[in-house]
Amino acid sequence: MHVENQNSIAPQPTAEELIALCEQAYGLRGTVGRLPGENLNFLLQGDDGQSYVLKLAGEDLPAAVIELEHRMIEHLISSGIDISLPRIHLNRSGQLETEFRDGDGHSHRARLLEYVGGTPWCEAGPPSTGLLRDLGRILAEIDLALADLDLPPAHREHRWALASAGVHRAKIELIDDPGRQALAEKMFHLYAAYAPRLAEVPHSLIHSDANDENVLVANDRVVGLLDFADSLYNPTICELAVALAYAMLDHPEPLQAGAEIVAGYHAIRPVAQDELEVLFPLVVGRLCTTVAVAAERRSIDPDHPNWYVTEARAWDLLERFAAIDPTDAAAELASAIDSKPGMESGAGIPDLLRSRRMHVGSSLSIAYEQPLKIVRGSGQYLYDHRGRPYLDLVNNVCHVGHCHPHVVAAGQHQMERLNTNTRYLYDGLAEYAGRLAATLPDPLEVCFFVNSGSEANELALRLAETYTGRHDWLVIDGAYHGNTSRLVGLSPYKFMGPGGKGHPEPWVHVVPMPDGYRGIHKGQDRSTGEAYGDEVGRVIAGLDVPVAGFLAESLLGCGGQIVPPPGYFQRAFEHVRTAGGLCVIDEVQVGFGRAGTHCWAFEAQGVIPDIVVMGKPIGNGHPLAAVVTTRPIAEAFANGMEYFSTFGGNPVSCAIGMAVLDVIEEEQLQNHALELGGHFLAGLKTLKEKHELIGEARGMGLFLGLELVRDRETLEPAAEDAAELVERMKARGVLLSTDGPLHNVIKIKPPMVLNRDDVDMVLRALNDEMSKLP
Ligand SMILES: Cc1ncc(COP(=O)(O)O)c(C=O)c1O
Repeated sequence: MHVENQNSIAPQPTAEELIALCEQAYGLRGTVGRLPGENLNFLLQGDDGQSYVLKLAGEDLPAAVIELEHRMIEHLISSGIDISLPRIHLNRSGQLETEFRDGDGHSHRARLLEYVGGTPWCEAGPPSTGLLRDLGRILAEIDLALADLDLPPAHREHRWALASAGVHRAKIELIDDPGRQALAEKMFHLYAAYAPRLAEVPHSLIHSDANDENVLVANDRVVGLLDFADSLYNPTICELAVALAYAMLDHPEPLQAGAEIVAGYHAIRPVAQDELEVLFPLVVGRLCTTVAVAAERRSIDPDHPNWYVTEARAWDLLERFAAIDPTDAAAELASAIDSKPGMESGAGIPDLLRSRRMHVGSSLSIAYEQPLKIVRGSGQYLYDHRGRPYLDLVNNVCHVGHCHPHVVAAGQHQMERLNTNTRYLYDGLAEYAGRLAATLPDPLEVCFFVNSGSEANELALRLAETYTGRHDWLVIDGAYHGNTSRLVGLSPYKFMGPGGKGHPEPWVHVVPMPDGYRGIHKGQDRSTGEAYGDEVGRVIAGLDVPVAGFLAESLLGCGGQIVPPPGYFQRAFEHVRTAGGLCVIDEVQVGFGRAGTHCWAFEAQGVIPDIVVMGKPIGNGHPLAAVVTTRPIAEAFANGMEYFSTFGGNPVSCAIGMAVLDVIEEEQLQNHALELGGHFLAGLKTLKEKHELIGEARGMGLFLGLELVRDRETLEPAAEDAAELVERMKARGVLLSTDGPLHNVIKIKPPMVLNRDDVDMVLRALNDEMSKLP
């Protein structure tokens, strides 16, 4: 890990050298003493009766940033701010900084500041309500005054920038205590899940460091603010969040105290609803930064005097905040103002369950032992009614991220103009069909649009049956293809599962799952793939009826996240085509770049199907699905009987489908799936080395699986452990599910906007929870 250089271990000049500097550069005589704190600050008691602060710049502090501080302070003073600020005195040459060399030959940059009087907040005793409000007021006045000041050096990355506190997350590994590590993990997760929303709130130049040493107090008022070194362009609300984080430390009622500061701030610069919603996670983010940076610093120098002043108090506050729901925290912080966070919670879970039982068919299952009520989705996150975030590793439907703004806008825009059906001409249908067909290899070029994967598979069956004049089908064991009567009949996952008939219907012929881990042929090489392909030929040879086709997923989802070994589809297709059948590939779960190497997972096997079925991710959650086939097959289907789907391919669906394609292209999600999926799978394989429970870590791109076994020799499935692990990960804010015929495979198929921090967090959490499994 990269450990940053800290300026406080920089070389120090002697007092005599500094006294000489003050005289030469500023014409001031006096005495010099080091001031407490992290930075190299010295108090100059001038013979003129005035006090000054001589500040040495860290090596890495660019001159442009000093200029930034200067311009900010001058701007605030000229705007009439009624507290003292550390104004810079120019040297005799009229410059902000003075460069000099100490006796040891080290060069330094010094600047002389006006001394700002007052007692630091942390030494001023318990704050009154008036003082809390005054802090809010001052910060709001500063933010308002700075709102019209946009200085280029302020657009910078900074170690303490609250909007990018996520950069410190990896330092969790440096925290010694496992309990504290888990606490930091949980609280960083809260911060990270809300941080993307910062893109929606106003940004401006802020001081960004109103900590309890920098805020100076006298006579129950805030009288000064120090240290503009962290100033930068950031979400304006971060100003308030930083101040809250420090003012709440040690306070017996931190959120109540925070509410007073918020009220003081709000009276001057009203806090908008979306700012209120991110405020608590931001406070948490600053506390997390404090403990993470402390852990990092300990790895450099565990005894450094100034580095750990806030750490213990930050841990205490994080501990308290961990027990509070984000919705409650947001409400409490807003309790003294008229604006409220818009975090709706609605009906409680028991009420919802009751009415669901009354009016909704009970064949629908509900995930998790304690059901989740989800009120919002964004990117790779879902949020429950208490504001708790969950990293979603389950929903491959919301492919480009939950509620992606481009997709939402495209749907809204089209809904406002027109929604009709395919019996009229409109631009969207032909354009979308062309764009979709362009993603596929020739001769796949004719599209049909429907509303669900099941409907699409049904249509694929009809296309193949009309073309071949046959009605028998080959299907892979363990597969699921849809919820209609025929597709349940073609889904061993269903007809062999609970409530199923327990055997295939006479028109259904099941071929073995090409599972190189526990199937009849072992291995991931080409010969295994071909051996499984020959199983398809073997089944065909045993039939006394001709087959219409072979329906197969390109990666087996319900079968347990299985990647067929190379050569499987080539060999299987040869057998099917020799027998006069069509090859139909179901890409409903895995299409649209998830596999990483290709847009369509079948392409990785070097085959071209006759019909491709797509669904789930195609509309990012909007009910849309499609079948794409060759012209001869499509023409054979146009036999006089019209094919019409009322909603299929309507203008709104086409607009949404196109927006999904836009995002995949613009955000380069296929390549992202390749790179991130590779990192994820490598991490899962490392976990396998540590945990006997993992029999196999497998997958492609962002379609991954962990098969859990009790014994690596016998492959006894560990279904209970898999279920337990899913529950434990949910408690840590990560959503997973189990699947596979033996229910022992942890499925991973997240929205494709998952990022590396998310993956690293999941790997740490899986490692931790697997270590704790009984
Ligand atoms: C591989 C596969 N095909 C088809 C379907 C059916 O899609 P839908 O639920 O949209 O009808 C599913 C749904 O889970 C699926 O996973």
